[in-house]
Amino acid sequence: MSMSAIKTINTRPFAGQKPGTSGLRKKVAEFAQPGYLENFVQSIFNMFGDCRGKRLALGGDGRYFNRQAIQIIARMAAANGFGKLLIGRGGLLSTPAMSCLIRKYDTDGGIVLSASHNPGGPDADFGIKFNGANGGPAPEAVTEAIYQQSLSIDKFLILDTADIELDRIGGTELGAMEIEIIDPVADYADLMASIFDFEKILQLLTNKRFHMCFDAMHAVTGPYAKAILEDQLGADPGTVINGVPDERFGGGHPDPNLVHARELVDRMNGDAPLAFGAASDGDGDRNMVLGSGFYINPCDSLAVLAANANLVPGYQDGLAGVARSMPTSRALDRVAQMLEIPCFETPVGWKFFGNLMDAGKITICGEESFGTGSSHIREKDGLWAVLFWLNIIVESRKPARSIVREHWQRFGRDYFTRHDFEGLDAARAGDMMARLRERISALPGEQAGELRIEAADDFAYADPVDGGVSAGQGLRMFFDDGSRAVFRLSGTGTANATLRLYCDKYETDPSLLGLDTQRMLAQSLTAAGEAVGIAEFTGRTVPDVIT
Ligand code: G1P
Ligand code: ZN
Repeated sequence: MSMSAIKTINTRPFAGQKPGTSGLRKKVAEFAQPGYLENFVQSIFNMFGDCRGKRLALGGDGRYFNRQAIQIIARMAAANGFGKLLIGRGGLLSTPAMSCLIRKYDTDGGIVLSASHNPGGPDADFGIKFNGANGGPAPEAVTEAIYQQSLSIDKFLILDTADIELDRIGGTELGAMEIEIIDPVADYADLMASIFDFEKILQLLTNKRFHMCFDAMHAVTGPYAKAILEDQLGADPGTVINGVPDERFGGGHPDPNLVHARELVDRMNGDAPLAFGAASDGDGDRNMVLGSGFYINPCDSLAVLAANANLVPGYQDGLAGVARSMPTSRALDRVAQMLEIPCFETPVGWKFFGNLMDAGKITICGEESFGTGSSHIREKDGLWAVLFWLNIIVESRKPARSIVREHWQRFGRDYFTRHDFEGLDAARAGDMMARLRERISALPGEQAGELRIEAADDFAYADPVDGGVSAGQGLRMFFDDGSRAVFRLSGTGTANATLRLYCDKYETDPSLLGLDTQRMLAQSLTAAGEAVGIAEFTGRTVPDVIT
């Protein structure tokens, strides 16, 4: 390659390239303006320092702008001296598969192109996230370093070459850099087969009385779920629905919840409900699981997986510990107590679990936002959770619904819900949070609705591994009936603000375990809303999404 193929382009910083809960997410229009993506990518490379000879994995969830972004990043990586890129065929890699590849091939990190469960298309969202050599999302110190780079950037390097062929498996070269286009599914599928009892799950899925459905929501998990569930594990063809990745996710939100996974939900209810159902999100790290006519809350799912890990071959050595994000219900803590293992409480976002896993302190972890995972990789993993459930179902010979009900009888039930108020004026929402933060330490002792506030604080986390402190991670109120409410603003949106109100309450009375969640939590939700003045600040009395 002649050195003249490397172009140095002068640029100026763009405001707002600060990564949020999970990477940098913006509207496509913002990402597609000349230099915007390039600036951020060069900021990642500058944070790396010397890129010469380094190796990266690269891929995304297939949303609109994915392929163009891959071409730009590949040319920039070559110009910056990287030694090799591993790219998923078609530019596709699910987030868990990316994490798997980084670890398996020992690359220096990876770049994931995704805005997760946000919609895709020219008027919708795009995102980019950097994962480190452990396979996990960059910790806050690294995302902050990237952001600092983005504030002073004045040039980026890019190769002046034609596009590379993304759809054919094999090796090629871009300037002096090697590129290998790989099957995005194979390594991940091998990893799953090493954790779960595929023979027994195959028996279950080929049993004529067991029918399941996996809704890939037109997103990246389609090829993974088809290869694993249908081709390897014998599920009926058609088990995977919406299985072809689409740039616009079929025009929907690739968000696995009761609102957006409508088709799946319909199949799990009605006259002839299926035995088991699951869905995953845009980039394949989230999961929702359903039994026959039965919604399984992600907090319960996490607790059930931890309690039954002894049934899965990959967890025969036991669990070192477990962790959950702070707003996630405390159902997991009760399992940890029974297992006599530590349970860590982290801020929202997967990046906080990585250190705990690297230090061998936890094996399984999760969040209320349909995220569960384990130390097999350093991301949450949607299909892993589905296979875990199937492995438990086949070993316990019980339907999903009975597994959850028996869990509640044994441990008690933590009723949990999250109310999202979307599209709020960002300034007003920020003001509301700021006022609450000012008052928070004075709240204990105050009456809110029918309840009295016993304790309240602003959650801060001190990482037990590196000692890093993350403050301002959510405002909490504990009421005198044992219930809890948590407030925070979303860090993954691309426009306006979203207020999240999380609420949970523990119940052990056997006659009160099978009741309606919203009814059980109504009093606490009202109390929380009054204490904060949601209606006054937002003009809203009902949330947009309830999960
Ligand atoms: C949301 C979820 C959080 C999850 C993140 C990335 O972040 O609440 O649990 O880790 O998406 O999937 P938020 O928008 O609340 O900042
Ligand atoms: Zn996701």
